Amino acid sequence: METFQALLARKLAEALAAADLPPTGSVTPATDARFGDYQSNAALVLAKQRGENPAAVAEKILAHLKVGEWCEAPTIAGAGFINFTLRTEIVAARTADLLQDERLGVEKVAPPKRIVIDFGSPNVAKPMHVGHIRSTVLGDALARIASFLGHDVVRDNHIGDWGTQFGMVIYGWKNLLERAALERDPIAELVRIYKGANDRATADPAVREACRQELVKLQAGDAENFGIWKECVALSLREFEAAYKILDVHYDIQRGESFYNDRLADVVERLLKSGLAEISEGAVCVFFRDIPELADKPCITRKRDGGYNYATTDIATVDYRIQDLKADTVWIVTGAPQQLHFRQIFEIARREGYTADFRHITHGSILGDDRKLMKTRSGDNVALRDVLDEAVVRARKIVDEKNPELPDSERGDVAKIIGIGAVKYADLSQYRMTDYIFSWDRMLSFQGNTAPYLQNAYVRIRSIFRKAGEEFVPAKTLTLTAPEEKNLATRLCQFGEVVPTVLNDFRPNILANYLYELANSFHAFYEACPVLKSEEPSRSSRLALCELSARVLAKGLDLLGIKVPEKM
Ligand code: ARG
Repeated sequence: METFQALLARKLAEALAAADLPPTGSVTPATDARFGDYQSNAALVLAKQRGENPAAVAEKILAHLKVGEWCEAPTIAGAGFINFTLRTEIVAARTADLLQDERLGVEKVAPPKRIVIDFGSPNVAKPMHVGHIRSTVLGDALARIASFLGHDVVRDNHIGDWGTQFGMVIYGWKNLLERAALERDPIAELVRIYKGANDRATADPAVREACRQELVKLQAGDAENFGIWKECVALSLREFEAAYKILDVHYDIQRGESFYNDRLADVVERLLKSGLAEISEGAVCVFFRDIPELADKPCITRKRDGGYNYATTDIATVDYRIQDLKADTVWIVTGAPQQLHFRQIFEIARREGYTADFRHITHGSILGDDRKLMKTRSGDNVALRDVLDEAVVRARKIVDEKNPELPDSERGDVAKIIGIGAVKYADLSQYRMTDYIFSWDRMLSFQGNTAPYLQNAYVRIRSIFRKAGEEFVPAKTLTLTAPEEKNLATRLCQFGEVVPTVLNDFRPNILANYLYELANSFHAFYEACPVLKSEEPSRSSRLALCELSARVLAKGLDLLGIKVPEKM
């Protein structure tokens, strides 16, 4: 189903061609409903380019614009905008079609891409903290949307399960470990022994050397150290899994850093052989002398002591994703501080001849009330587990207050859906690069651009159908008389326009904002138009609008990884 936006853009392009004008400008939803449903800036852009009068250019375009079947006569407004108002019957017919369309008007892209999405990717032997929400939730939403659009998606958890910290962890394990504590709270104990080893190493060079030796032994495949390492990884994975379960996030593969271990030597040899890398002060480096911002920032792929780096692993990861996983597109979701790193990795990949589309999708931070990185009172990172638990507890309180009639057996699930949904939505409704302040009150509010507000709109609709007590039979045609009806229907038809645009710049907040506006349109409609008490043909038509609103809200939230309850 061609969206209205695509259709008008096509008609505009035809008109420009017929008027002997170059293809220019775009068609976008109108910023103000008084000016119609869509607008185009084509005349403005062309007039500026050619030094002509915008209104005159707009007239010229209008003379060739053939949209009579779909729109009222287009008008020229302001400095030369062309405004389109869809004909009500057209919107009504499209809305009726959408009710028959499982995809709710979202077309699959052709040809689909094979996309590896690397997101979340926490480090072993450290607790997942609140900062992990962003990469995990953003990556998951992008993966859901890409899959829905028909792409072939591989979700990869590139966990940090190898590296110099294991020297400390193993030393700590052998000298400081308390088994009972490990059983009670494995990650806390791992953190404790790591810190303990680190403190001792700082104070005592002999301990520092002992830690280094443990690392060397691990890297040489010593059985005892390897066993300890494996146990640490397994304990961490168990904790990660628990978080993913609550968050409803899954991975297709989990290729941690250790997976690439035995490929690193070859990577470095290859880079040296091809001349991409050179030896500098004993280390093997790739220089970027022709890129001004990188000119003094070489990428070290083998340290002077023979050890490999995070970067070496990522170069091997590129090989694996392109050659083994056959990706043509790679998206890596991390915080902004890794920008330089991936700039280097992608540049090396390009020099090695890889033509895949590599994207580093960065995000900002989650801040506390003091506008600094969110921390506990004692200055530690806030554990993810604690945040998710608290979200559910707080949501439960709200459910208890708002809906005392809800059976006890359902409240737990509803609280989970609301609490976790609120945390995710607070993140995804922000532009990903924006730092935002974590606020329970705001994210759990039933007013404003929040998950509970959207979930509540859905629940309201479900209760209309429960009250009706009849099975929903989709109306074959819709009758849109009130302006609120047409407005809601037009918005519903825009779902197919909005979803694909999320991937242009990886902005789920565009979808979130759309859903928020949809819920507003629904509420305006619901205030203005009685549903169950209205006469036919309005009644069926309004029920159809309700049903489609519920479906779009639920699907839109699902694409963001957020569930909807039937009651709340
Ligand atoms: N483990 C890393 C971190 O916590 C993120 C990994 C991102 N992916 C990658 N291929 N390097 O910062």
